Amino acid sequence: MKNTLSILIGFITVFCMLVSCKGEPKNSKNVSIVTDSVPNGENEKLYRPNFHFTPKKGWMNDPNGMFYYNGYYHLYYQHYPDGTTWGPMHWGHAISKDLISWVEKPIALYPDDKGYIFSGSAVVDVDNTSGFSEKSKTPVVAMFTYHDMKKEKADKIDVETQAIAYSLDEGLTYEKYEGNPVVKNPDIRDFRDPKVNWDEERKQWTMVLAAGQEIMFYASQDLKEWELISTFGEGIGNHGGVWECPDFFQLPVKDSEETKWVLLVSINPGGPNGGSATQYFVGDFDGKVFTIDQNFKEQQADDHTFWVDHGRDNYAGVTWSNVTTANGGKLFIGWMSNWLYANNVPTDNWRSAMTIARELSLIKSNGTYRLISNPVNELKGYRGKKVADKNIAIEGETILVTSKTVNLTKTEINFEIPDLADGTYTFVLSNDKGDELSFGYEATENSFFVDRNKTGENGFSEKFSDRISKAVRTANSDTLTGKIILDKTSIEIFFDEGETVMTEIFFPKVPFQTLSTWSDIKNFTLDKLEIHEFNFN
Ligand code: FRU
Repeated sequence: MKNTLSILIGFITVFCMLVSCKGEPKNSKNVSIVTDSVPNGENEKLYRPNFHFTPKKGWMNDPNGMFYYNGYYHLYYQHYPDGTTWGPMHWGHAISKDLISWVEKPIALYPDDKGYIFSGSAVVDVDNTSGFSEKSKTPVVAMFTYHDMKKEKADKIDVETQAIAYSLDEGLTYEKYEGNPVVKNPDIRDFRDPKVNWDEERKQWTMVLAAGQEIMFYASQDLKEWELISTFGEGIGNHGGVWECPDFFQLPVKDSEETKWVLLVSINPGGPNGGSATQYFVGDFDGKVFTIDQNFKEQQADDHTFWVDHGRDNYAGVTWSNVTTANGGKLFIGWMSNWLYANNVPTDNWRSAMTIARELSLIKSNGTYRLISNPVNELKGYRGKKVADKNIAIEGETILVTSKTVNLTKTEINFEIPDLADGTYTFVLSNDKGDELSFGYEATENSFFVDRNKTGENGFSEKFSDRISKAVRTANSDTLTGKIILDKTSIEIFFDEGETVMTEIFFPKVPFQTLSTWSDIKNFTLDKLEIHEFNFN
């Protein structure tokens, strides 16, 4: 039965890849040749983000291989440098000192006769467990999936295997290991995206791998020989699509002595608002088996999925290795798009951006563990001009700020709404071309919403604006807090101190000029409004 299921999933995936998800799009209009120089045309000015990472040219999807070492955060990514749609996968590379300003470096991994270089991770092998060190240099070891297109075309099952490469110059260049692949394919069509972490308690490398609709756990002493130690996922969580890009790490529970293990699993399709999204599980790990928390289990039996982000544009996100924040948090970044339309978004010479880097932490609220996301602290360092006000009485539609005062394409907005009543609280960004992006909270449904259906250029895909995204509110305070990060083509909303997050992209005809708010309960108080324009050129 399981075999039939995995063959079926395999077929659907191959079909998907060939027809639309990632294969060359049928619509030839979308197949554009990229130019080497960074153009400075209208499209670039309008849509290239002010501060979210984008490749200078070509296609980008998942973040890969992130590690921190010697003052630099490294970000690799699924990249096709010669086209603006998904194609032969490389690992592009960028570095940053603060997770916000990125410098693109030369491509780190090229496809070869074993296949395309699919998603994976990288670790700093401080103790040289791999033996790759030379002249006392610390090896960085990357582990990735080889996706063999020849086998895919021949309809084989064993298309994907796991391989390693090592760097002795702190992640700039890599040597592929001669013993590749290090994990062979056990007859599972979707078998990819290894994420390696060091388990300090057991003194072992642990690797999680997406296999069909399950996660396989492996352990190793030397990053070369891997032993399968358990599998997780059957009958648990959301199974609306193929499981991809897992991550597995420990987090302290806020205001307690407790520590829990968190498993992230991206899923496509099956997301809460359609297409791609990332679910998470919280539990315990004994060095072999991951067991989810009882309360979590009960809620999932009730069909409740725990999502890292409820918006449509945060996929395949994972965390940086070799670093935790001062609070013990993990640093995360996601791909700010969705396989439903990623190949069609209306940018000219490049496609896709990453989310803002985020800090992940864990709280326990009413007996349930919840993953909290917030923009990394480093973003505050870019705050410039500020507009602030307290206790604003909102009576009817009220303009909060216009682009005459604050540039609304590089902006942070913070607010609180005390004494929530049974109404709908709406915020709207608009421009004089009639484009509108609205978001807010509908108390009667206890749900947040983002409506990008009138944001401007939408015609490139029906899937882009076929619904209003919604997210159930899980916090129960009668004060609602919001933090919004705005760029030219993206909004990231962190409600309730990061307990519910919604990330969505949009393409207005001209930048938004006005932010206003109103509610159908007529009067309410907006408190602690703080709007910052970021200093980015
Ligand atoms: C997720 C994903 C991964 C795969 C990569 C290929 O978006 O499908 O599972 O490794 O993209 O580019």
